This record gives sequence, structure tokens and C-alpha cells, in this order.
Amino acid sequence: MAFKEFNYHQKQDLLDEAKSLGLNLALSDNMDVLKKKVKIDEFVIPNSMAIHPMEGCDGNADGSPGELTIRRYERFSKGGAGLLWFEAVAVVHEGRANPRQLWINKNNLSSFQRIFEDIMNNARNEYGQDFTPLTVMQLTHSGRYSKPEGKPAPILAAHNPYLDAAQKIDENLPVITDDELERLEEKFVDAAVLAQKAGFHGVDIKSCHRYLNSELLSSFTREGKYGGSFEGRTRFLLNVFDRIKSRLGSKFIVTTRMNVYDAIQYPYGWGVDKDDYKKYDLSEPMRLIKILSDKGMKLINLTMGNPYYNPHVNRPYDKGPYVPEENPLAGVARLINGIGEIQKAVPEIAVVGTGYSWLRQFSANLAAGSLENGYAKLIGYGRGAFAYPDFARDIMEAGALSKEKCCIACGKCSQIMRNGGTPGCVIRDSKVYAPLFKQYCGQ
Ligand SMILES: Cc1cc2nc3c(=O)[nH]c(=O)nc-3n(C[C@H](O)[C@H](O)[C@H](O)COP(=O)(O)O)c2cc1C
Repeated sequence: MAFKEFNYHQKQDLLDEAKSLGLNLALSDNMDVLKKKVKIDEFVIPNSMAIHPMEGCDGNADGSPGELTIRRYERFSKGGAGLLWFEAVAVVHEGRANPRQLWINKNNLSSFQRIFEDIMNNARNEYGQDFTPLTVMQLTHSGRYSKPEGKPAPILAAHNPYLDAAQKIDENLPVITDDELERLEEKFVDAAVLAQKAGFHGVDIKSCHRYLNSELLSSFTREGKYGGSFEGRTRFLLNVFDRIKSRLGSKFIVTTRMNVYDAIQYPYGWGVDKDDYKKYDLSEPMRLIKILSDKGMKLINLTMGNPYYNPHVNRPYDKGPYVPEENPLAGVARLINGIGEIQKAVPEIAVVGTGYSWLRQFSANLAAGSLENGYAKLIGYGRGAFAYPDFARDIMEAGALSKEKCCIACGKCSQIMRNGGTPGCVIRDSKVYAPLFKQYCGQ
């Protein structure tokens, strides 16, 4: 299944390739399924399309949205997606992934109120007063990837020989204590209270991509009450969920963006086959999602991998930091089918699917196929939304995506981010981001 860049002219080329690789990919031409409303408690999401959290590392030093942040949400909110999953927002300064990561606190609350109001006004001006995109804020602590002052200041849930080596982390660095985690639970609740005050419809207790709470899920080797057993490893997420719910009531949506597969060797990875980490074993993620569903979670956003360590699992690409061993189509199929298995096993929760952008214009067919086959209830775009913020409008109004507007998975947005800059689409939004690419990546 050797690596191969995207080179499909017709949908049939793609289907032929999938067949020759033994991959299951369901495509459909029925774009109407993407227009379907999705009910989450009392909230009706106006269609089945979502923008994934996509951070631009362009906030101000005090954590408030900056000029480019405001521009990004103007583009997103005018684009027609029914669900806007607002990017990673730190709950404490020391948990910021970069000095420009958003950070919500009582001193900058009004700036989040303003951006939320702008989102609602833009969407309603474009699509009518009844069009209210569900807007969820992702609350994060960056854990081992914390860099609040621009240099690594890792906070570990547990040591991990693979990730520690990749980051050159000293094996004697102490891990975050149980007391500190207990206090951090309260910080997530405080941030959720602020998000609600800002107007957001809900919060995501971020549990993906190996940031702090994602690392806790796989902390098999951690001692104490937040590690070891399934109960210990999931304690932080479940406690925070319960605490936000009891504080803010049943009308405020509490959800999570969760990895269902880390693709890191056991006992250091979550959702992995113990004998072969290249395969997923969804039994623990499924068990946790069922618990969350029983507690009343109605919406969940699922993903895989680690953007620093195995980015090809996280976001299938043509160009990236290394050439993967697999065809990116296999990466797409892993995301779609793995996430689909969860949606099928827990039909009462609405799953937002991930893994579509690499397929360019054909991603709309895969999105429609996934909905028709019950692999997700909403379809999210990450890089695709940077490139093509009005993808949902084109699907609704033109019944197709324009090839010329799609993400080409060139990796340049991620490259800017890794070099400490402010990512965006260098190709489709070149006026703003080509000069930034030159500035940060020197090309
Ligand atoms: C520049 C950049 C910023 C991202 N920011 C976030 C984020 O804030 N939170 C998050 O959960 N995922 C983030 N992601 C991951 C995406 O949401 C998405 O999972 C990933 O790109 C794969 O989806 P895609 O194929 O549609 O791009 C980011 C990805 C990129 C490239």
C-alpha cells in the first residue's frame, strides 16, 4: 500500500483504487443528506456539515482573539456549516500550546462575547434569522505540548518512551500530580462557565491528539487515581463532564473531541491493538463513549493520531514532515471506518466524522456516503475549511464542491504552525498566507 499522492480525475478512479487496495469507501451523489438538520437536545443544527476546530495561533498575548482570528470566524460563519467547532482555547496560561493560543479568562471575556455575536450575526445575515450554527468551544490543556512562552514547557500525564524521545524530554521530569489534576478539573469548569457567559452553546473537554487529557486516557503506567485502570484513566474526563453539567445545567452542551486511536504502542497508546499498534482496538473508546452517552452526552467529535508524532494518521496528506508507508487513501479509510464503527455501536450519540479533506472535491461524495451508511451524523472539515470556508454553501447551493477551491493537503498550514507562525491556507487564501509562509518557512 505504498504512498501515493492524490491523482484522481473521476470518482470512479477513486473507487477503483479503493477496491484494489481492499478498502471500504462508500461514496454517494445524494447531496441532500448533507442538508439534513440534526437535533441535539433542544438545539437544531441547521445542516449536517461542520467546521472542525482549527487554530490559527493568532490570538493576543492576553488570550483574546486577534485580527486574524476574527477574520477566520468571519469566513467560517459566512460559509454555511451548521456546526462551528471553535478552536482550542486554553483553560490556563501554562497549558497554552503557543503564546498566541486563545485562552479564556475573566479579563478577556468580552472579546469572546464579541466573536460569538459576530459569528451569529454573520450567519444570520447570510442565511436568514432562523439559521443558528451550533457553536461549541474546545477547551484545552496542551500537556506535553505546552509552550506558553514560545519554548517547550511540557506538563506530562505520564512518561511515554516514544513521545519523550521525539521531544527530548528528560525521563526524570515529574508528571503532573493528582492534586494538580484535581485543581485543573475546576479550571475546566471555570472556563466552561465563561464560555457560556460569552454565549457559546456548549464546550468540548478536549481529549484528542495527545494533549493532556488525551494522554491521561492512555496513562496505563501512571500511578494514583488518574492512571492505571480504565476507571483511573477516564476519571478526569468524566469528573469534568459531571462537574460542568451540575454547574451549568442540562441545556448547556458538554461534549468532547476524542481520539479513538492513538497509533502508539501499548501500554502508551489509547485504542490500540495490544499486539500490533498499527491496528485499532476500539473496545475502550467505545466503552467510554457509551458511559458518556448514558450520562447524557448527545454529540461527540471523533479523530485519531497525533499531529506531532504520526501526523499522517491524524490528517492524511500529500506533503508533510515525512513520507508515510501507506497510501493516504488507507488513512482516510481508517478514519472513516473506525469512527463509523463507533457511530454504529452508539447510535444515540451524534458523531462528527473526521478525515475528509484529502479527498478534495470527492470528499462531498464520501461525506454523503458516510451519512447514508450511518458512519457519522455530521461531517467535519479541518484543512478543507481553511482552504474553502464556504464549502457548505456550495454543497447546499451548487450540489458539489469546486475542485479549484479545495484543500490540496500540501502541508503548508501545518508547517507555518510548527515554525511558530499563524497558519492558514497558503494556496487558496494566498493574499494573507503566502507572505506568512515566506516569513515563517522562508520559501
Ligand atoms: C493548522 C491546524 C490547526 C488545527 N487546530 C486544531 C484544534 O485547534 N483543535 C483540534 O481538535 N484539531 C485541530 N486540528 C486538526 C483538525 O481539526 C483535523 O482533525 C485534521 O486537520 C484532519 O481533518 P482534515 O482532513 O479535514 O483536515 C488542526 C489542524 C491543523 C492543520
